[in-house]
Amino acid sequence: MLILGLESSCDETAAAIVADGRSVRADVVASQHDLHRPYRGVVPEIASRAHLDRVLPTIRAAVAEARIALGDLDAVAAGVRPGLIGSLLVGTSAAKGLAWGLDLPFVAVDHVEAHLHAGLLEAAPATFPAFGLVVSGGHTSFFEVGPEGVVRRLGRSIDDAAGEAFDKAAAMIGLEHPGGPKLAALARKGDERRFALPRPTLDRHRFDVSFSGLKTAFRRCVLRELGIDDPAVDPRDRAGTLSDGDRADLAASFEAAAVETILAKVELAFGGAATSRFPTLLAGGGVLGNDRLRRGLVAIAERHDIDLRLPRPEWCVDNAAMIAGAAFARRSRGERDALDLAAEPLSVWSRPEATGTS
Ligand code: KG4
Ligand code: ZN
Repeated sequence: MLILGLESSCDETAAAIVADGRSVRADVVASQHDLHRPYRGVVPEIASRAHLDRVLPTIRAAVAEARIALGDLDAVAAGVRPGLIGSLLVGTSAAKGLAWGLDLPFVAVDHVEAHLHAGLLEAAPATFPAFGLVVSGGHTSFFEVGPEGVVRRLGRSIDDAAGEAFDKAAAMIGLEHPGGPKLAALARKGDERRFALPRPTLDRHRFDVSFSGLKTAFRRCVLRELGIDDPAVDPRDRAGTLSDGDRADLAASFEAAAVETILAKVELAFGGAATSRFPTLLAGGGVLGNDRLRRGLVAIAERHDIDLRLPRPEWCVDNAAMIAGAAFARRSRGERDALDLAAEPLSVWSRPEATGTS
């Protein structure tokens, strides 16, 4: 079954063609980072206009890369939530238009769930239930995942998402948006023990995390290194005066604290009982581009003998292969969505009642 998937939730316009939820035939991503960099963040209006310019060329490129004709497709899917609403509307409307024009089923996909599918692409089938970890710019959530997708949310960040925390910390030491990967690159040269930062675990028995305390402590550290007493000063305006060594040590200290905060919750899923009820760990989201986090997850998986699915780096960040992949399970059950289904800014997994235990 060949599915065309579209992704346009934030600042990447992407189209991919995936066979049977696993075999990636085409994978095209047009990123807009250059357009947003001067504003230190994604500007929704600029994003949606750029998606409009790029969506059709991106779809054409994917069809050409897969060497298929549009008539070979069996369904068209789009990430319909969560995200910037103007951006989501572009991919969703394009997918609906194609589905209608080609008389194919339209399949709506939740972007957060799709991140968990990334580890199933180009890989052997997994055993379920799986423990699911999504760490992206918009989400830090822990899930129980069954063969047909997410069963329930076990917990999440009560404030910033991990990627958002990385990006804000990066901005405080003068790195351009999105600063997460730049902070991680600097961290390799720094001393993680130089600055003592908190690892807020909240309740040790629950899958909830918080990054706001870490962010505040980091801000204080940066201001202290800049020799600024006034807490109202924005460190981003002065960060240019930090020495390279201080900046690297700050980056390393922040990265260690943020990664250990995430790993403590993953360990909770596998560490407590003698044998875990999760044979598989599915991980997804842009923050998995982080080497320290990847190494930490590998170590946990080895210790507990778990099948860890770390997606390839290009499928950790936003992409459409995960959207087309995630659509497959629903399509195989014969499900499809109405063409008047609305795109939505929030994931169903962001709703307070979505949680199973917390
Ligand atoms: O999943 P993603 O592409 O977009 C969302 O759905 O949000 O994640 C992007 C996030 C950004 O916040 C980016 O800074 C972060 O992932 N990120 C990293 C690294 N690479 C990307 N954070 C820490 N270390 C990295 N190496
Ligand atoms: Zn994402």
